[in-house]
Amino acid sequence: MNTLSGKHILLGVTGGIAAYKSAELVRCLRKQGAVVRVVMTTAAQEFITPLTLQALSGQPVCSDLLDPRSEAAMGHIELARWADALLVAPATADFIARLVQGRADDLLAAVCLACEAPLAVAPAMNRAMWQQPATQDNLALLRARRVNVLGPATGSQACGETGPGRMLEPDELTRLLAGLFQGGALAGRRVLVTAGPTREPIDPVRYISNRSSGKMGYAIARAAAEAGAQVTLVTGPVALVLPEQVDGILVETAEQMHAAVMEHIADTDIFIAAAAVADYRPQSVARKKLKKSAAGITLALEPNPDILAAVAALPEPPFTLGFAAETDALEANARKKLRAKSLDMIAANVVGPGRGFEVDDNALRVFWDGGEQQFGQTRKTRLARQLVALLAHRYQTKFDKDRVIKLHAKDSA
Ligand code: CTP
Repeated sequence: MNTLSGKHILLGVTGGIAAYKSAELVRCLRKQGAVVRVVMTTAAQEFITPLTLQALSGQPVCSDLLDPRSEAAMGHIELARWADALLVAPATADFIARLVQGRADDLLAAVCLACEAPLAVAPAMNRAMWQQPATQDNLALLRARRVNVLGPATGSQACGETGPGRMLEPDELTRLLAGLFQGGALAGRRVLVTAGPTREPIDPVRYISNRSSGKMGYAIARAAAEAGAQVTLVTGPVALVLPEQVDGILVETAEQMHAAVMEHIADTDIFIAAAAVADYRPQSVARKKLKKSAAGITLALEPNPDILAAVAALPEPPFTLGFAAETDALEANARKKLRAKSLDMIAANVVGPGRGFEVDDNALRVFWDGGEQQFGQTRKTRLARQLVALLAHRYQTKFDKDRVIKLHAKDSA
């Protein structure tokens, strides 16, 4: 059965140009069987009329906190109690800031404050407004309070610019909202996965690469999406189809993979580095095809950025899971990498002829500070689910611990 079937969804609409998409969002939610009520801010009504949303939802639209008639019909407390989930889409930068402050000076803000059901926001704003530290700090606070931040997408914007800040499409929001009810272990979390090999060009037709098939990374991306996460997969060249419900970013070189990861990392809760990134690249790339010479050839190589280490070294890193492919001394080498790169977890496997790369099966030993878990030889798809379940558990444990530390720090300040 559809997870949204019969669910009471309170849709908050705030005043941004993406409000025109709210009409389609109401249709998508209802198509999945949800009962939808809409609360609009005053500014939202400048972009789309209450009549449109009333006609599409089949329910009266509320907008006024101090209107005795509407409060008598269903006041802000009743609306908050009615909702199984509250989704604010679009959520403007201003509304997000007001949510952080716990304001209750209009109906939507008051409902958000009074609501004990899961709350999700779909930010929609200009690229520069999205990138402002003020907005990013506000979102970090909301995430820490377990508000589900859905999106935004990156692309062309109504203001003519291109970048992050577009509201996610209605069907994507509907899917993510359904994920909140699936009780998935990663519901509402944003996961960034790297997968596959990288290719480091030598000349226009040749490159250095490795045997990675991308199967494990793709299986992990799928398993994380199944667990309710919003997944972005940065992938090197592989012969695999992108899993449904996963945003794919196709790259070739380690430097491109590094750039793509860094562009998305600020919005990431969990980073999984499953890619087999080439450690070195040719120092210079020949512009024309190299001709063979009897004298042989020497390639000078220079190091590529270590993407995983760079992510783990960020001032506020996401939860990090790295991989270690080893031919020997598995535990010692894996634990060394765990410490050297300051990771939260590392999944190690043995590689060699017919093992690890290019095959459908694998076994893993997962290490973290003070613990270990082993997963026996099985299909990579199953292994990925087991790994994601463990990851979700470790992530939650760290999240709860950090929260307690922050609360103590606040109390003693
Ligand atoms: N990794 C990365 N960027 C790199 C190299 C590796 O993100 N430039 C990530 C891989 O995705 C993997 C982990 O780091 O999660 C592997 O660590 P690494 O120390 O690079 O492993 P190896 O390349 O196997 O190291 P070594 O050759 O020293 O064993």
